Amino acid sequence: MDSEKRLQELRELLAEHAHQYYVLDDPLISDGEYDLLFQELLQLEEGHPEWVTEDSPSQRVGGAALDKFQQVEHRIPMLSLENAFTDQDLRDFEDRLCRYLRRDEPLSYMAEPKLDGLAVELVYEQGMFVQGSTRGNGTIGEDITAQLRTVASIPLRLRENTLDRLEVRGEVFMDQSGLVALNEQRAHDGEALFANPRNAAAGSLRQLDPKITARRPLRFFVYGVSEPAVTGCDNQHDMLKLLGDLGLPVNSHIRYCQDIEKVIEHLSELTAIRHDLAYEIDGMVVKVNDFTLQERLGAKARAPRWAIACKFPAIQASTQIIAVDFQVGRTGAVTPVATLQAVDVGGVMVSRATLHNGDEIERKDLHMGDTVLIQRAGDVIPEIVKAVVEKRKPGAHPIAMPEDCPVCGHHLEKPEGEAVTRCPNPHCPAQRLRSLVHFCSKAGLDIEGMGKKSVEQLFDLQLIGDLPDVFLLQTEDLEPLDGWGEKSADKLFSAMTAAKTPSLSRFLAALGIRFVGEVTAALLERTFRSLENILAATVDDLMEIEGIGEQAGHSLAEYFSDPSVQEMFTRFHDAGVRPRVLTESEERLPLSGEVLLFTGTLKKLSRNEAKKLVKENGGQITSGVTKKMTCLVAGEKAGSKLKKAQEQGKKILSEDEFLQLLKGKTVGRQEDGKGENPDGIEHG
Ligand code: IVH
Repeated sequence: MDSEKRLQELRELLAEHAHQYYVLDDPLISDGEYDLLFQELLQLEEGHPEWVTEDSPSQRVGGAALDKFQQVEHRIPMLSLENAFTDQDLRDFEDRLCRYLRRDEPLSYMAEPKLDGLAVELVYEQGMFVQGSTRGNGTIGEDITAQLRTVASIPLRLRENTLDRLEVRGEVFMDQSGLVALNEQRAHDGEALFANPRNAAAGSLRQLDPKITARRPLRFFVYGVSEPAVTGCDNQHDMLKLLGDLGLPVNSHIRYCQDIEKVIEHLSELTAIRHDLAYEIDGMVVKVNDFTLQERLGAKARAPRWAIACKFPAIQASTQIIAVDFQVGRTGAVTPVATLQAVDVGGVMVSRATLHNGDEIERKDLHMGDTVLIQRAGDVIPEIVKAVVEKRKPGAHPIAMPEDCPVCGHHLEKPEGEAVTRCPNPHCPAQRLRSLVHFCSKAGLDIEGMGKKSVEQLFDLQLIGDLPDVFLLQTEDLEPLDGWGEKSADKLFSAMTAAKTPSLSRFLAALGIRFVGEVTAALLERTFRSLENILAATVDDLMEIEGIGEQAGHSLAEYFSDPSVQEMFTRFHDAGVRPRVLTESEERLPLSGEVLLFTGTLKKLSRNEAKKLVKENGGQITSGVTKKMTCLVAGEKAGSKLKKAQEQGKKILSEDEFLQLLKGKTVGRQEDGKGENPDGIEHG
């Protein structure tokens, strides 16, 4: 046989055996036999480099390292999922779907394990793997084609190539045993351990050098495609079957469920076997099986209506408290945080946990060195459930809150009836830093380029000390610094210009006044309509506002009467900061500023009625998905316009949501009422 033909045969043989081994978990030949074939292929290719093809198994070892990751725009956004936690949540999910679809019969579903890894998109053209990317922000991800080529269970060529282009989506993850081995190696090399399989997968794929990725035991399961219609299948069940036939690995614990009760049954089965699986799953994804129904259900801003992730309940483990340190937050609250003997809690290495406050420590009667039971539920921060008193060493000291601030040394206060111990010194560096971080963060003015790390860096270098300083930064300050260059400094300055005219409510929420979150800030804006009016308000004025509680009222009065705060406002003004207030007409009408487009069949309104309503409510109408369009109202059977709007990340409302909006209820993006998180304790 001529060598070129043999090479072709070897490629096919090796691909077939890899499929048997990695995808079907059913090898037909021994590792030794496989290696022999592989060696033969390498030898032939060495003699004939011109014969090396992209889909050759030799190409999995990882090519040249990249300088940086290119961005990839997903043609169809990669959405995330809403969560359910209980059986009842799943029944409620079905109720919502039936109401939305105006349907009485039960729906059928696919229930699939929720893998704990990293979502990726793989593009196949004429059956060849041509591009792979991370989910990124859902619209734009990173090109990790070279890295994904090294993942053995990702086919470089599909078994049939009838489709011009197929964009499949799935999860890259690491087996539990792979993670343990990798962490052992890292511990040995003195490198930081991966806290969970998700971090391990992400850390391995985001290696510029694909040869490093190739050494990591990564796996892949497919769970969907960007546009189900291109597969010619009617439902998720048939499509997963087709993807499997194409050679893509499909998880074997997926289940077709005729109704929601069967879904609940499968959830308890998965819960029972989850620890027997080779890999970590953190729940079960439930998807309406029928694609026509999926399409009718559509998506909200971040997640489809037709699917939900049911998360497993908390997992517990026991470990030991090694040390406790005290972190000072934005409002001076002192939070005790325990360092724990690192322990695996259902696949996540936990080494820190918050003790919340002095009262909690007392309630749980925690002592230094105690053995404690800790628990983790879903993605939440691990917490200490209780001390195992029987294991307490004699003479162990009870954990106590400090008398003085660990950062500025000021005497701490704990007001009667409050759980929180507080540093009353407003100039405490810890508080100033946390306030700055909050001020620039998403919950604050959302200044791009001023994330936590940058703020800490600039604070440490004393380039910023209080909030107005942020607006006084100069290019010359930044350019010479580590991690900053002309480009990033320029970017920051344009973000800063935009941040100088925030809405009044955003500005107020960004200040980080105690008890004043987004909701209270919005109330203040609506009532006072200018910063000047707020500054002039008395305690009584503040307390009279319906919805502002006593605590917030006092806190506001105290804040605004502080001379250093007033001086701060002068400095904001001098720096060009002008909080903006919507004019009354702008504010009163629910659709002002909105440019709407209707698509699909509306059930309750005629098109003309709908358009009339838009105009009456201060909005405008457009006829296409344009740049100007701010919101698409999608009726039933919405098609290409809906898709286009989703692709462009536009706001999408159902007919009902549109009607609700006119009634003045908020729909779409919810404000996240996240409280103070002084310590930012994360897993690990
Ligand atoms: S479907 C639009 N199916 O969970 C539907 N996702 O919070 C989007 N995931 O980012 C995903 N297993 O990384 C789907 N069988 C599965 C999944 C799954 C894990 C992940 C995926 C996604 C996240 C959603």
